Amino acid sequence: MKVLLASSIDPGTVARLREAHEVVTAFGAPEAELIAAVEGCQALVFRSGVEITAGVLDAATDLTVIVRAGSGYDNIDLEPVRRRGIRFIRVPGPGAKAVAELAFAQMLALARNLFWADREWRAGNWVKPMANGRLLTGKTLGVVGAGNIGSRVGAMGAAWGMRALGCVEHPTETAARRLAERGIELTDLDRILAEADFVSIHTPLQASTRNLIGADALGKMKPGSYLVTLARGGVVDEGALRAALESGHLAGAALDVHEREGNGNVSPLAGLPNVILTPHIGASTSDSQAEIGQIILECIQDAVTRPPDLVPGVEDFVVIGA
Ligand code: MLT
Repeated sequence: MKVLLASSIDPGTVARLREAHEVVTAFGAPEAELIAAVEGCQALVFRSGVEITAGVLDAATDLTVIVRAGSGYDNIDLEPVRRRGIRFIRVPGPGAKAVAELAFAQMLALARNLFWADREWRAGNWVKPMANGRLLTGKTLGVVGAGNIGSRVGAMGAAWGMRALGCVEHPTETAARRLAERGIELTDLDRILAEADFVSIHTPLQASTRNLIGADALGKMKPGSYLVTLARGGVVDEGALRAALESGHLAGAALDVHEREGNGNVSPLAGLPNVILTPHIGASTSDSQAEIGQIILECIQDAVTRPPDLVPGVEDFVVIGA
């Protein structure tokens, strides 16, 4: 099979793919480059940071399988995928563990002024007298988008001694029961904003979530609270967040996802001391990427031996017990 890797994936997986297939790479390439690279490919693998447009898919006339090496599929045009019955497999499980851990790390780092204290002491400033942080234990955690990743964050919060609240787009009794089993109370967005000391955002980017956390929502957040987002750039309005931080209404924020990502972009929040900015590394642990890589190998091997079954739609590769 000819396989196009449009994003960087686990190096061991790339080596194993090369043993059995012809592999071409165009990591994060612009549309014109992808159009040239995808010619003759039967398989396409991608992560975030690259746009799989209708133009790319139209040029990929031999494509039978696409693997999204992670969760979000806001960066692919699914219309041609559905129309042509190309198998589209998402691998949401392994990355979810890593994203949830990073969300928790960000909350701990914010609460203890970790990066600020580190920067100051590297510069010889013994800031101990000014460095009192806050506990997570005993505080309220609000998870916006308590799904695959968000419910993990909520469960980690509950285990840490936090009161965990969560909301989902379509609340049902089943969702409430599942979340309750993980120590999370299902509620609505407004109550989370009003009561949470730490708000962690985990929604996909879609019409209903674009700028969900804008001036209005930020204004409803508890004074002195913290915001963490590992969802997608565009869910949080960064201009409004900057205003909420500058006014002191929010104590701090951590963003792993940004309105503008990629080399050369600088966040409008970069000048603020109480902000942590990471370059969309939520799912980037070698453990998770190796696990995803193993699944990529299986999906591509499966596509070799089993022709496309022409079932349109998104398939999730679910790892039992993940
Ligand atoms: C995901 O949706 O799984 C994450 O954005 C990870 C990634 O693709 O980099």
